[in-house]
Amino acid sequence: MENARALYHQHHGGAPEFIVRAPGRVNIIGEHTDYNQGFVLPMAISAATYLAVGPRSDERIDAVAADLGRQGVITLNDCDWDLSEPWLDYITGVAKELSAMNYPLSGANIVITSTLPIAAGLSSSASLEMAALKMFEAMGDFRLEDDEAAHLGQRVENDFIGVNSGIMDQFVIRAAREGHALFLDCRGLEIEHVPVAFQDAMFVVTHTGVERGLADSGYNERVAECREASEYLARVLERESATSLREFTVAELEAQRETMPDPLYRRARHVLTENARTIEACNAMKNGDAETLGELMNASHASLRDDYEVTGPALDAMTDIARELPGCYGSRMTGAGFGGCAVSLAAKDGAQEFAESLMKAYKERTGNEGVTLLSEPAAGVSAVPC
Ligand code: GLA
Repeated sequence: MENARALYHQHHGGAPEFIVRAPGRVNIIGEHTDYNQGFVLPMAISAATYLAVGPRSDERIDAVAADLGRQGVITLNDCDWDLSEPWLDYITGVAKELSAMNYPLSGANIVITSTLPIAAGLSSSASLEMAALKMFEAMGDFRLEDDEAAHLGQRVENDFIGVNSGIMDQFVIRAAREGHALFLDCRGLEIEHVPVAFQDAMFVVTHTGVERGLADSGYNERVAECREASEYLARVLERESATSLREFTVAELEAQRETMPDPLYRRARHVLTENARTIEACNAMKNGDAETLGELMNASHASLRDDYEVTGPALDAMTDIARELPGCYGSRMTGAGFGGCAVSLAAKDGAQEFAESLMKAYKERTGNEGVTLLSEPAAGVSAVPC
């Protein structure tokens, strides 16, 4: 907060009127299930995007991305993409969507700074989208429902950025409660805030140091494969009304094992078994049962590695090493995969040592420099007056 305030002063002079804080997120379990209308269990983390805002009387957004050393301008009544400043697209996308919904938009001087690593699978882009939305809401004195807000962010990703992502990231960044994970049914968008209250365990997030970009990774390919798998099952099981993998049971899928083409069968098996694991994990969390949750996290990683094929050598090494260390209940990749972060459930007492040993052994085994983020579950996006 202090840093955002100081940066605002340095770039625009004076003090900002308010600062928006939008957290990143880590997904505990329920991976690649959201765009299949399934279940997810993410939590917001303390690393966040900060947007220091001073309203202007015209329709101009004068933006500074302090960490990138870049500047850009958006003209709100006629906003267009700025190909030379891709970070600005997330704000432009939000402005375009709001204006299509006829919400009033006001100009502002802004400075963006972040403690979230970019392209690490911790949703820095969804965080910036939800921060921009909160800024426009605060200045225009309106408020979207949480599901509308999350859908808006998803449209920015799908229609403007070109990533066919689901709704998980924006939803948890918008709606999370401190001390809680968020169980979300991505079909009806029913939510439950689940307390994260283990006696002796906490989540440790570790970045492999391997960046990934969603648009050019296999992400959209997986989305397309799942659609194909669901269409295949709907056809052979004569269930025309079924439009997503969520509509099928593991038993129905298993009956197609011999005939369903590869890799569609394996992609579907990941999604359906992951949905079941996510419900079990939610119950384990409610019971404070770290052992069971850890086992489910391990099983999730194996399924993402073998059936969904989105892990890669760095994430496999990181999670293998984590499981060998004392005090580890379980470990898995988190987010889209293809690089990025792992999340481990580790004994609270030794969490710092666990993280340090993990970084050291990971460096020895892969040559990569990892980064650790220890975080309790944080609150969703908010605007704080200065
Ligand atoms: C990315 C997407 C999410 C979700 C995850 C995988 O974070 O933005 O919608 O699909 O990958 O679970």
